[in-house]
Amino acid sequence: MNLLSIILTATAISAVPISATKIILDNDWSTAGFIPYLLALNAGWDVLGLVGDTSNSWALQTSLHALATLEVGNLSSCIPVYKGSDYPLLNTPELFRAWEEIHGVLPWEGAFAAQNVTAENDGSDPTSGNPDRVVKEAFLEGYPNTTLAGYHAASWMVEQVHKYPGEVMIYSGGALTNIALAIRMDHSFASLAKGLVIMGGYIDVNLLEVTGSVAQADMNSDINLMVDPEASKIALTANFPNITIVGNSANQVYPTETYWKDVYTIQNPYSTLAYNFYGTSFPFWDETAIFAVLDPANVLNSTSFYLDVDTAWSSPSYGNIHAYQEALMPKRQVLQKVNYVLEVDGPKLMSEIKHALQHPKTCTDIS
Ligand SMILES: *[C@@H]1O[C@H](CO)[C@@H](O)[C@H](O)[C@H]1NC(C)=O
Ligand SMILES: *[C@@H]1O[C@H](CO)[C@@H](O)[C@H](O)[C@H]1NC(C)=O
Ligand SMILES: *[C@@H]1O[C@H](CO)[C@@H](O)[C@H](O)[C@H]1NC(C)=O
Ligand SMILES: *[C@@H]1O[C@H](CO)[C@@H](O)[C@H](O)[C@H]1NC(C)=O
Ligand SMILES: *[C@@H]1O[C@H](CO)[C@@H](O)[C@H](O)[C@H]1NC(C)=O
Repeated sequence: MNLLSIILTATAISAVPISATKIILDNDWSTAGFIPYLLALNAGWDVLGLVGDTSNSWALQTSLHALATLEVGNLSSCIPVYKGSDYPLLNTPELFRAWEEIHGVLPWEGAFAAQNVTAENDGSDPTSGNPDRVVKEAFLEGYPNTTLAGYHAASWMVEQVHKYPGEVMIYSGGALTNIALAIRMDHSFASLAKGLVIMGGYIDVNLLEVTGSVAQADMNSDINLMVDPEASKIALTANFPNITIVGNSANQVYPTETYWKDVYTIQNPYSTLAYNFYGTSFPFWDETAIFAVLDPANVLNSTSFYLDVDTAWSSPSYGNIHAYQEALMPKRQVLQKVNYVLEVDGPKLMSEIKHALQHPKTCTDIS
């Protein structure tokens, strides 16, 4: 090859369309919790892998749900699962419940709810007790036959952003423990990622926690951040090129019976699991978060501000966010300006979820 043809070849390569956005999804996976990665795949994104974190249940259990739900759609051969940290940075079930005795109980306590053997035998994911405990009864999607790719999610994530600098979006639908560990392990982690998007970060919702039912209070408490307040602060004040917060707006869109019947008009393992187990009690929390970054047009209204997380154990807002305008922001610590989503295109979200469930991608489509 002469110099000219090398130059021409290089030009031809650089003219190839920019490759798909890469994404790592870190979540507290569950039987019907697969929609976020199906949405990313359907949008043509390259899902590098999943991380299971401790948030609604222990990381081992949520990582096994990730494996199992990939398996039912024949996606395990192309999407690996890495298990995240067992414990939050400081929090434990004992500390969390001590905090609750001083500052009030959360309607949903996630992995920190007291261990309940009856509930586990009935198919609930494990809470409190030994984090190595796996409750097979909770695998309504089937118990996985495949195995985890690794046990150190944070180091795997660090490797990925170095391999693809500027290309990897980090999604968090649960606690931010593993992302904080990656940031502390390698100070260039955040700046080498493409961005961070999270489900969580409710703001100005205290009145909604007292003027309605306990269920309404639940919708407006912030378990993802509160499971690991210190990690939330580390992750949300790190220098990611872009941080998107889907808090209050995650409550915008709810599924209905009619919607699930419509989805189920095409039957496959994913539409069947969603139809049988997603229910209608909760909004599309984690789905709204991924939707907000798949296409900028999906966000109809947003604002931006400098964000901090309350890490004072003595505070009733421990683990909740606090917003500042630039003129009044703290000077003795570095905060990031975040995009705070106020409204998404609800009908488009519903239609994209339906499409992703009815026509899920397989490894053959994406390789
Ligand atoms: C694993 O294999 C068993 C036996 O074939 C099956 O019952 C189970 O559903 C499989 N698990 C998943 C997640 O598909
Ligand atoms: C997964 O593969 C099995 C066996 O090849 C096939 O029967 C099933 O329909 C596939 N499932 C999906 C969701 O593609
Ligand atoms: C334990 O779970 C069972 C079954 O879900 C429930 O009826 C019971 O109230 C729970 N016990 C406690 C102490 O929460
Ligand atoms: C950050 O991400 C949001 C959501 O995807 C997007 O709308 C915005 O344009 C991005 N900002 C920058 C500076 O890249
Ligand atoms: C965006 O949201 C803000 C705050 O809720 C509201 O005041 C404003 O009218 C909204 N703008 C649009 C275009 O919907």
